[in-house]
Amino acid sequence: MRQHRIAAIPADGIGPEVIASGLEVLDAVAARDGGFSLAVDRYDWGSDWYRKHGAMMPPDGLAWLRTADAIYFGAVGDPNLPDHVTLWGLRLAICQGLDQYANVRPTRILPGVASPLRDAAPGDLDWLIIRENSEGEYAGHGGRAHRGLPEEVATETAIFTRRGVERIFTFAFEQARARRRKHLTVVTKSNAQRHGMVFWDEIGALVASRFPDVTWEKELVDAMAARMVRRPASIDTVVATNLHADILSDLAAALAGSMGIAPTANIDPERRGPSMFEPIHGSAFDITGKGIANPVGSLWSAGMMLEHLGEKPAADLLMRAVEQVCAAGIVTPDLGGRATTKEVTRAMCEAVRGTNLEPTANHRTTA
Ligand code: IPM
Ligand code: MG
Repeated sequence: MRQHRIAAIPADGIGPEVIASGLEVLDAVAARDGGFSLAVDRYDWGSDWYRKHGAMMPPDGLAWLRTADAIYFGAVGDPNLPDHVTLWGLRLAICQGLDQYANVRPTRILPGVASPLRDAAPGDLDWLIIRENSEGEYAGHGGRAHRGLPEEVATETAIFTRRGVERIFTFAFEQARARRRKHLTVVTKSNAQRHGMVFWDEIGALVASRFPDVTWEKELVDAMAARMVRRPASIDTVVATNLHADILSDLAAALAGSMGIAPTANIDPERRGPSMFEPIHGSAFDITGKGIANPVGSLWSAGMMLEHLGEKPAADLLMRAVEQVCAAGIVTPDLGGRATTKEVTRAMCEAVRGTNLEPTANHRTTA
């Protein structure tokens, strides 16, 4: 039997709730599949850890994570700690420390989920956003001087390296090639940003020449935002810088119905270390502990994790369960339903086991 070692980091806010849900459903998937098992190491790192130890994770944290085949992450962020401290101390420390340079964000309108786009049918919005995940605007390059004085200055410099840009374009073209439409939209802002973004475009064109079977185009990021709303069906695979894709992927998640369903994978395509899978939503302190967090984002992320681990049939099984439960209207309040996290989780496990779903009439409050 194949065994995969998973490092689970539930961390802050609703993270523990959605990771518990994901681990329960993963167990059901493994039992049904029968070909593999998961060994889970749980790490209690995050903001509470910070309050006790003065750091978001131990100094040898990355070494622990390197022993895993994949990392399953909840959410990070605390109302009483600065966001840049919690984020750089954990999530970015892992992504950058393990050089997970490709961030993958699929977006689809799941059956039973209503998109705010008036005329969008489920098939009209089926996107794969590839986000550069190691440099760009998140390189952390900059500083402040003359603190508190009238001449105080702050710089935040975006970094684009030939190697960094080339490898993300290569990954994006490969992803586009693997999809039915074989079409890649390169998001840029080279009309206004004439150094880094012009460089980005040039390398995009160079890499494109190695993929003659993939059609591609450039789109300015502002125009892309409008196009996502007005012509969603014209988009398939998208590659964008760290910040541009951060913003566009929130828009994508909202257009697909809820931030609560969107998954993401932080991938090291070269597999030098583990990749990390997490819902795109944050710690959501307003609903923490209420038992109504939407686990779909973390479940879809778990599906991506299984696929990365080579368990494609199990990943498909999990996604079929997600679609079936959503279609049955067993959804949390962010999707207009009344189900709790536990009820959704139970329905997912039942769907995985192949038993019938409970009657749905009472679960949904809106059409
Ligand atoms: C995301 C998140 C993070 C980001 C936040 C938490 C800093 O929005 O994964 O998209 O901007 O990278
Ligand atoms: Mg974001």
